[in-house]
Amino acid sequence: MKFSKFGQKFIQPTGISQLMDDLGDALKSDQPVNMLGGGNPARIEAVNELFLQTYQALGNDGSFREDINSTATSSMANYSNPQGDAGFIDALVGFFNRHYDWNLTSENIALTNGSQNAFFYLFNLFGGAFTDEQNESVDKSILLPLTPEYIGYSDVHVEGQHFTAVLPHIDEVTHNGEEGFFKYRVDFDALENLPALKEGRIGAICCSRPTNPTGNVLTDEEMAHLAEIAKRYDVPLIIDNAYGMPFPNIIYSDVTLNWDDNTILCFSLSKIGLPGVRTGIIVAAPEVIAAVSAMNAVVNLSPTRFGASIATPLVENNAIKDLSDNDIKPFYQQQAKTAVTLLKKELGDYPLVIHKPEGAIFLWLWFKDLPISTSELYETLKEKGTLIVPSEYFFPGVDISDYKHAHECIRMSIAADKDTLTKGIAVIGEVVRGLYDGAK
Ligand SMILES: Cc1ncc(COP(=O)(O)O)c(C=O)c1O
Repeated sequence: MKFSKFGQKFIQPTGISQLMDDLGDALKSDQPVNMLGGGNPARIEAVNELFLQTYQALGNDGSFREDINSTATSSMANYSNPQGDAGFIDALVGFFNRHYDWNLTSENIALTNGSQNAFFYLFNLFGGAFTDEQNESVDKSILLPLTPEYIGYSDVHVEGQHFTAVLPHIDEVTHNGEEGFFKYRVDFDALENLPALKEGRIGAICCSRPTNPTGNVLTDEEMAHLAEIAKRYDVPLIIDNAYGMPFPNIIYSDVTLNWDDNTILCFSLSKIGLPGVRTGIIVAAPEVIAAVSAMNAVVNLSPTRFGASIATPLVENNAIKDLSDNDIKPFYQQQAKTAVTLLKKELGDYPLVIHKPEGAIFLWLWFKDLPISTSELYETLKEKGTLIVPSEYFFPGVDISDYKHAHECIRMSIAADKDTLTKGIAVIGEVVRGLYDGAK
């Protein structure tokens, strides 16, 4: 079979396809696997209970059946328009305006089939070939102000890879009064001096906050500075809020969320516990929403309404926020604490430093001067039934061949139950101790 260039780009092995294959294999395997590798949210009792009640109510309220006596259009028996389920969009407008002073209207929101789908649209809208005012062709890229960044961005461009990425400042910090932690900060000197930025070859700036893979949360000062740079260069600032506030609110540092016409905020229902319903939410200027809707029409006809139907009542009555504040956030905060304690027990006397846990569902571990790369470590751990993700996948747009730090870290999920966390961390401890001891 001969595939087009477009097709070949997608079927090449990519970081994300390897990861998804390993995760899928692990779930099918009859051997026990310590799954610390995936991005699946945890099973949280209160969350499951609320969703179960909501599904049951949906089954009874006619959502699955066209009611000939009703003019309601929220039924799953109909396509929505390409912007997405109007009832859910109205509920979101009300919700965001209740909690923030953004003055949104329904023209500011579009839905997508998961936020991964949103990044496919946005990175291809703002990155790639442009025609400038002189009618010349310009190739623009997406500026990632702080890498490591989310693995899922890497391969979404339809042609090539269009990223310009900035490596972080690394600050050694304490966490709850304890040593052995670090925090990434944006290197604004490097960023402001990027030729691509000064020469008009950046189409948008994007960051995840909290960041997958590191659990870093960019400070309000960093965000204000990025917003100012975006305005100065007349490009949008895309904020990937998959783990952020107000839902799922897996964020422990004291920060705020802002939106204006130059900001594109991406939300998702996945990390509140509904990754299977594939629902992403974009909040942006009407011009961006119209473009996303037009792309939805071509790619999907209309986005899925299932997640929208489940989430509408939870958004209307704020249950989504209460669940996030009272159940989801404390759950992951406790998981992070447990995992840090276990890691310190296993590797406290070794050169392990942990990125300060500020949010998301991962810990990011840095094994300083590890005798092998963490891609090799990944293979050894996989043989021993423990899955993590090595750091090299998280540097889209960076040539990491001479950047040692990018080969010395791993991402581990903290969504697993305590038994899996304990066993997985014990395996990591045993293997890593052996590596350091062997190099003495
Ligand atoms: C930072 C980040 N952004 C976006 C996504 C995509 O999420 P979804 O497509 O499930 O909404 C993920 C998934 O893991 C993520 O971690």
